[in-house]
Amino acid sequence: MIVLVGGSGYVGTAYQAYFNSRGIPFVSVNRSTLNLCDKEAVSKFFKELKPQFIVNAAGYTGKPNVDMAEKEKTRCLLANTILPGVLFEVCTDLKIPWGHISSGCIFSGSRPDGSGFTEEDEPNFSFRQNNCSFYSGTKALAEEIMDGGTDCYTWRLRIPFNEVDGPRNYLSKVMNYAKLIDVRNSISQLDEFVRATWLCWEKRVPFGVYNVVNPGSITTREVVEKIRQRRMVNKEFQFFKDETEFMQIAAKVPRANCVMDCSKLLKTGIPMMEIHEAVDWALDHWKKAS
Ligand SMILES: NC(=O)c1ccc[n+]([C@@H]2O[C@H](COP(=O)([O-])OP(=O)(O)OC[C@H]3O[C@@H](n4cnc5c(N)ncnc54)[C@H](OP(=O)(O)O)[C@@H]3O)[C@@H](O)[C@H]2O)c1
Repeated sequence: MIVLVGGSGYVGTAYQAYFNSRGIPFVSVNRSTLNLCDKEAVSKFFKELKPQFIVNAAGYTGKPNVDMAEKEKTRCLLANTILPGVLFEVCTDLKIPWGHISSGCIFSGSRPDGSGFTEEDEPNFSFRQNNCSFYSGTKALAEEIMDGGTDCYTWRLRIPFNEVDGPRNYLSKVMNYAKLIDVRNSISQLDEFVRATWLCWEKRVPFGVYNVVNPGSITTREVVEKIRQRRMVNKEFQFFKDETEFMQIAAKVPRANCVMDCSKLLKTGIPMMEIHEAVDWALDHWKKAS
């Protein structure tokens, strides 16, 4: 039996759809069933259920954005650090393999030569560096707790998007924000992310950390140009002059724009579409949520 934690969320819903499409039986566990921050309760629950594998898609992202985490620190810490910490300890004790959804937001920028951060690089946007948002700090802390775990995947997701218009989709955000900041990022096609992470387990690739992003990087202006070419939005896109203006007007805490290297994942034989192709595909198949 597969257990999905956080199945009601944006990412969790994509796991539910994937499991259903493939006929993979799973149980969705949420906080009304179980207090996932209570180690004894979680341990008792999983001892009885004996899951083969657990996917942890629970977490706190802040709505409408990560600025909210500065106001809801306890919620953020519980969901992003304590909850995966409890799962880590319980799964280690009970020898249950599992996968945790982490984030690329624990990095900022790129390597000095412009290449993407690999799984070997230390997070450079964390409480350790004392330069991060509270959200990023809690995600990096969870990775620190899980460092050295033997039966666990840490899958780093970065700015999810797909072809379904909606408030959580990066492409919808680019279309709808009043003003944009032009930055270079690695991003993750959500359904490819879900498929790739599941294949990690299905193919039994070695446990550890994986950057699960589409190969390459893309700037906001490149995305806007693709939207413009398709005449998807009838407006003039506005850009902030620079990050300083963005921070003065639109944000409370710095954002973790970054380039990530996904060659470790690709070397396992699990494919991800090239980033520009993935964005083109999503825009060419654009649809309203059903
Ligand atoms: N979306 C992104 O842009 C993004 C990017 C990179 C990484 N991630 C990571 O992906 C994961 C999922 O994000 P998401 O966008 O799907 O978030 P979401 O839509 O806000 O969903 C969060 C899920 O976590 C559950 N949850 C939150 N706090 C909980 C708690 N204390 N106990 C039990 N369940 C709790 C929620 O359950 P309820 O329904 O009960 O509230 C919900 O199912 C997070 O770890 C996030 O950091 C997301």
